[in-house]
Amino acid sequence: MKVLTVFLSMKGETIAPGMKTVNLEKGYTNTAAEYIQQVCGGDLFEIVPVRTYNPDHMKMIYEAKEEFDQNARPAIQSFPDSIEEYDVIYLCFPNWWATMPMPVFTFLDHFDWNGRVIAPLVTSGGSGFANALKDLEETCKGAVILKGIEITGHETEASMKKIQDWAWRIRQEKN
Ligand SMILES: Cc1cc2nc3c(=O)[nH]c(=O)nc-3n(C[C@H](O)[C@H](O)[C@H](O)COP(=O)(O)O)c2cc1C
Repeated sequence: MKVLTVFLSMKGETIAPGMKTVNLEKGYTNTAAEYIQQVCGGDLFEIVPVRTYNPDHMKMIYEAKEEFDQNARPAIQSFPDSIEEYDVIYLCFPNWWATMPMPVFTFLDHFDWNGRVIAPLVTSGGSGFANALKDLEETCKGAVILKGIEITGHETEASMKKIQDWAWRIRQEKN
């Protein structure tokens, strides 16, 4: 049984409830991905865009909007050599403009997903997967997409058990 947990996450400025800005040492999705790996083991892979985004959160949001509007595939620093040996791939991403961040599409486009099993986790400001599941299905043709989990970003730490129960149940079922 081999498990891969993939994530994209932004540390630094983010918006907390009440439109307050907080500075995260580690992004919410990164934290969630580590919770999964703690119980399921396996490999952890971070999708790191080559470009840097503006450290000013509001400016960054509009840089990401530009990528979304252009349906861009921003370059990422590296890819795992292969995904074929993994029985389950936990795909963890923040909701950006109601779908996956465009660098996650870059990652997905790189591989043949036929027969792969994907368990998606989203963190968001509240809108959950929104269009991401439809987009994931369209992008990863032939993949089996399991029931995912939606976490509100600032509740990630409080949701540790919920995330780990979800991830472990999937791992047991696929074993
Ligand atoms: C570019 C951008 C776009 C976002 N768009 C949405 C959105 O459409 N709906 C939503 O609920 N949250 C949205 N958010 C909030 C993030 O999904 C949320 O803060 C997430 O937990 C961030 O994860 P991270 O700390 O791992 O980067 C957006 C955040 C960013 C940076």
